[in-house]
Amino acid sequence: MSDKQTYRVIQWATGTVGKVSLRHFAENPAFELVGVLVTNPEKVGKDAGEIAGLPATGVIATDDVEKIIALDADCVHFAPLVQDIDMVCRLLRSGKNVVSTLGPFYPTEHFRADIDRIEAACRDGGTSFHGCGIHPGFVGDILPLTLTRLMNRIDRIQVYEIADKLRNPSVYIQFMGFGLDPDELSAQPNCMEGAAISFAQSMSLLVEGLGRTIEDLTEKHEVATAKNDIPYPGGVIRAGTVAGQHWEWTAWADGAPLVVYHLYYMMGDDMEPAWNLGDSRHRIVIEGDPPLEATLMASAAPDGRHPFLGITWTALLGCTAVPHVCDAKPGLITHLDLGVVQPRGLVRPPSADPGTR
Ligand SMILES: NC(=O)c1ccc[n+]([C@@H]2O[C@H](COP(=O)([O-])OP(=O)(O)OC[C@H]3O[C@@H](n4cnc5c(N)ncnc54)[C@H](OP(=O)(O)O)[C@@H]3O)[C@@H](O)[C@H]2O)c1
Repeated sequence: MSDKQTYRVIQWATGTVGKVSLRHFAENPAFELVGVLVTNPEKVGKDAGEIAGLPATGVIATDDVEKIIALDADCVHFAPLVQDIDMVCRLLRSGKNVVSTLGPFYPTEHFRADIDRIEAACRDGGTSFHGCGIHPGFVGDILPLTLTRLMNRIDRIQVYEIADKLRNPSVYIQFMGFGLDPDELSAQPNCMEGAAISFAQSMSLLVEGLGRTIEDLTEKHEVATAKNDIPYPGGVIRAGTVAGQHWEWTAWADGAPLVVYHLYYMMGDDMEPAWNLGDSRHRIVIEGDPPLEATLMASAAPDGRHPFLGITWTALLGCTAVPHVCDAKPGLITHLDLGVVQPRGLVRPPSADPGTR
């Protein structure tokens, strides 16, 4: 990987993650954007720059998968709403490396079949696959594992994701069942069903990285309700309905809780009970000797509040890994295989655009 090398990239899907990636690929001289796959008919035929709110790039979005497969590219940054392992394998067999925000992130039994297929496709195509995202895929695995180098002894590692969805609205508000009666929420499936399996990949990387294995995985879920109506751009969370959710997953090793993930998602803080969690952030707490805490948060915006940058970071984690993944040996590449990523093209003069927040 030389400093002058450029990587020809395709952006697959231009949702919230995909738009951040498009901007990065368009601005970073380490990359040449050569293709954009969209599903939304209104985006077909548009310049990638227009989709991402940037000057024209000359790259026109298509919904024609065959055209994308036929392109000569080093890597596809894969960020659709729905997982498609068949498509990932086709891309890998067509000679394109794939970095995906949907995982799989780490080989666990649950994802064994997908990983076997991905590895076979990598062998056929001479290509590599890497799954990463903020969480799962970074903040609960390679980041705390790196921090464990500062420890003499570890009793327990707790990882918190605190996201204020009122300040940073997203499509996930409805998907996650905010605004439902608490009983209704527990009675009907929502997008967090099965999420523990996905997050368990990150837990496994961390636990196995410490030389242990997960013996059991337990789950708790609690909700907080709105004290008053909470208006947001997509509607209103009515008083008494779900305005906060806390998911807690615990990975047990040697008969004790070793890794605990807390996901706190809330619509502001006018809730009962009052969780008083403050601004959006990630927090890693390592109990042991010497005890350690690390907080990862966006810098304060002009209003003094710290926004949630999880989606932006998910996109950038994928983009910055692309050169290493392209240069890696064929196969599934986890964070442990990647080692310390040395991103390319980040040190450059600022562009005129407003940034990635
Ligand atoms: N690991 C992590 O930490 C992490 C964090 C955030 C997101 N993610 C994952 O990254 C992916 C993208 O997230 P996002 O926030 O960008 O989502 P998003 O804003 O909903 O965008 C997803 C895009 O996928 C395309 N799409 C829509 N319906 C689809 C369908 N039925 N099948 C396939 N593609 C469809 C659309 O692309 P076009 O508009 O171009 O047609 C849409 O804009 C999601 O799968 C999400 O779970 C992971």
